Amino acid sequence: MDARRRGLEDVVIGTSAVSWVGGETGQLSYRGYDIADVVGHLGYEATAHLLIVGTPPARNPPIDLFRDLASRRGLPPSVEAVVDALDRRTLPMDALRTGISAGGIVGSPYPPTFEQGLDLISRAPTVLARFERRRRGLPPVPPDPELGHVANFLKMVEGAEPDPLRVWALESYFDIVADHGMNASTFALRVVLSTNSDLVSAASAAIGALKGPLHGGAPERVLDLLDRVREVPDVAGWIAEALARKERLMGFGHRAYKVEDPRAQLLREIAEKVARPDRFRQARQFEELALEELRRKRPDQRLNTNVEFYAAIVLEAVGLPRDLFPPTFALARTAGWVAHALEQVRDNRLIRPDVEYTGPSGLRLPANHPRRDSGS
Ligand code: ACO
Repeated sequence: MDARRRGLEDVVIGTSAVSWVGGETGQLSYRGYDIADVVGHLGYEATAHLLIVGTPPARNPPIDLFRDLASRRGLPPSVEAVVDALDRRTLPMDALRTGISAGGIVGSPYPPTFEQGLDLISRAPTVLARFERRRRGLPPVPPDPELGHVANFLKMVEGAEPDPLRVWALESYFDIVADHGMNASTFALRVVLSTNSDLVSAASAAIGALKGPLHGGAPERVLDLLDRVREVPDVAGWIAEALARKERLMGFGHRAYKVEDPRAQLLREIAEKVARPDRFRQARQFEELALEELRRKRPDQRLNTNVEFYAAIVLEAVGLPRDLFPPTFALARTAGWVAHALEQVRDNRLIRPDVEYTGPSGLRLPANHPRRDSGS
């Protein structure tokens, strides 16, 4: 079977009105609004409103949703206990998945509701920040209901109110990655919900799918890559050799986009404003050399910069540790997941694809093959 079919490439698995990905034209819109417009106008609460309710809020920020989300940030004691019991060496992405999953113990029956969705969006940053503080040997910082979603997350991680430039950069990042069509983690979420399982189980599966480097686990590896080539005299030669070894360049290539990912352009602009100038310059130079080599070596693949390349530069400039990048992506994506969850259960049908069987058939075990104990 060819690779395209194995990866369900171009297979349409249903309908959705949440977000549109224009792979050939490099476009992304949420509920019909271009992503550049969303990022330029809306904060994260308003973007969540747009994705979940379906329309931009009348007021910005949406006061009711802002207060509702802020009031749900506290964790049930049983969840706090689970997060606190984790080994400090646990990967933050695993800690987030475990903390979210522990929330299911408190109850999240099928079908998912708007309120369950708000709980997921609101509690996820508290889980992650609590774990981050704990592994650094610091006490948790309680949620601040006066702060917006993103500023509160940074405060819970750092222990002090963050400066507006970093909040702006991180909030823009949250908006930019809040949803993205039928990506792997959203698909995983929908598959779980399609069995009439609950939102917490579906979100746990989605986090699991997002963790891999072919999806949301790429940005920390982008920085590792940039660090590795910092002292290399011939970066173009280094890239050519890496491609010859069949290595993948993190932050390049995308299943949907055959031209530049529009999110890469937005994040490049943000990175230029907030990153250290030497880091931004290095990233820009590496990007240009990588694109040149990718186009020379793999003209068939139409590989371009994807969202994760400059996401890495922005998240580094915000000051988050590298292994917090994937779970921070997950926090941002919760708004999209909730929108998809509510859409899935409105018109649900079990998602159950088929597989082409390629194993043997008609085999019989020999008569003298040891038989299992009959139990008598
Ligand atoms: N560097 C080098 N080669 C690449 C890259 C890359 N970044 N991306 C794809 N290729 C090559 C593959 O090696 C493969 O080569 P082959 O035909 O010789 O085996 C060919 O292009 C096709 O690759 P597939 O994985 O089949 O294509 P797909 O459409 O599934 O690729 C993907 C999408 C997985 C994102 C890929 O481009 C990749 O691995 N990129 C690097 C990791 C990355 O940046 N991940 C973040 C993606 S964005 C997101 O999910 C939020």
